[in-house]
Amino acid sequence: MNLAIVLAAGEGTRMKSERSKVLHTLLGVPMLSYVLDAVRDASFGKRIVICGKNEAALKETYNDEDIAFLRQPIGEGHPYGTGYAVMQAKEHLTDDVPVLIMAGDVPLVQADTLKALLCAHTESGYTATVLTAELDDLTGYGRIIKNDRGLMTGIVEDRDCTPEQKKIREVNSGIFIVQAQALKESLDSLSCDNDQNEYYVTDVFGILADRGEPVGTYALPDSDEINGINSKDQLAFAENLLRKRIVQQHMKDGVIIENPDTVVIAPGVTIGRDTRIEQNCRITGNTSIGTDCHIGQGTVIRDCTLGDNVHIRSSELEESTVANGVSMGPYAHLRPKSVLGEGVHLGNFVEIKNAVLGEGTKAGHLAYIGDADLGRHINVGCGVVFVNYDGKKKHRTKVEDEAFVGSNANIVAPVTIGKGAYVAAGSTITKEVPAGALSIERAKQANLDGWVERKFGNPKEERS
Ligand code: UD1
Ligand code: CA
Repeated sequence: MNLAIVLAAGEGTRMKSERSKVLHTLLGVPMLSYVLDAVRDASFGKRIVICGKNEAALKETYNDEDIAFLRQPIGEGHPYGTGYAVMQAKEHLTDDVPVLIMAGDVPLVQADTLKALLCAHTESGYTATVLTAELDDLTGYGRIIKNDRGLMTGIVEDRDCTPEQKKIREVNSGIFIVQAQALKESLDSLSCDNDQNEYYVTDVFGILADRGEPVGTYALPDSDEINGINSKDQLAFAENLLRKRIVQQHMKDGVIIENPDTVVIAPGVTIGRDTRIEQNCRITGNTSIGTDCHIGQGTVIRDCTLGDNVHIRSSELEESTVANGVSMGPYAHLRPKSVLGEGVHLGNFVEIKNAVLGEGTKAGHLAYIGDADLGRHINVGCGVVFVNYDGKKKHRTKVEDEAFVGSNANIVAPVTIGKGAYVAAGSTITKEVPAGALSIERAKQANLDGWVERKFGNPKEERS
């Protein structure tokens, strides 16, 4: 089984963060997840992650995945560096298989690229093959050193480069394949003789080349993939490249995207053909959207399933399910566990939470519907509040098909409103309303004739 060693024990000091670098997210997904997925999809069946102080956080994040974690001792008295990290996996280097070594901070690399690297490595017969590219900003990248005959002789880290070597544009991506036995032997020859007093895994190439082993490069035409992340500006840069890649793929697949530079779509989101996404939308998490939908500007959707023909104007949706033909907004808010049936309509400033609304039910304006089960074709008037919280506990409300809840009513849970019942505007309902009944709970209107004049005098005279 092909083996991959992913390095993630570094302190990530340049991130200036308390959080482990590889758990910082791009479009809501941890950096390391991109690397682990690409490695898996490129058929490296055994994945080893070298961790450090982040061991507990990594194990918690990836507890259900088939990954081996090895801890690199970090702190005073211990050596440091990518070479020392790889040494932790030495006893796993048994069969002489190609071993992929990859930094955990290069999240844009694609599985196809890793496959191509493995292919190039196998076909060339090299003992070690490094994935390289030419970059505009070379800061922090190891340079690929080649001899007069164009054969690779080693990698020199940016900070250890001579002024001449600094000019080399071909850099180490931090991703390479080495045959297990050669790797094992060369790890024994690593030294800390460099600017940082660290063991550099990149020295493996020089060691092997000196021994006369064939080492080589596999150059990537698209350098975007190898952008490493050491700082928060590199994080933002890589996240934006990823965002562009995803948005472009959706357009290729038939989604209409207005002003694509402003739209954020996370990996794994699916969107049907001819759905239109307006500017400034943010669609993340485990979300799928059907065909012919219209997602209006500024809409935020996370972890939702939307059917076809859904029309949304500037709204926020979280962890909810929306059936075909629903319309909502502007400024509607679906909080977690909301389920909207076919053709439901929500107008402006309507908030739904942990509630099911049946087919054709409408709430046109300014309402809160929380912890409730609503049937089909119900009308919820303007300003209706489902009073679900008694200060200690939440309670549920049931409203049956075709009921009519008048404006500004308070529905105090737990309570049921029967099929086809009417609740008069302004009522505070605390008891069951039977099917077909009108429930009216408010003081009788009293009109005091002439009250204004008695109080303030003749309206024609000036009032003070
Ligand atoms: C590394 C390469 C450089 C390459 C660049 C590409 C080395 C010495 N340098 O530099 O040639 O161009 O990546 O992005 O390898 N790590 C550990 N344990 C450690 C130190 C680091 O596991 O003791 C891990 C880090 O968590 C990180 C990876 O190794 O995921 C790379 O370390 P980093 O410090 O970011 O290396 P660079 O300076 O970027
Ligand atoms: Ca790095």
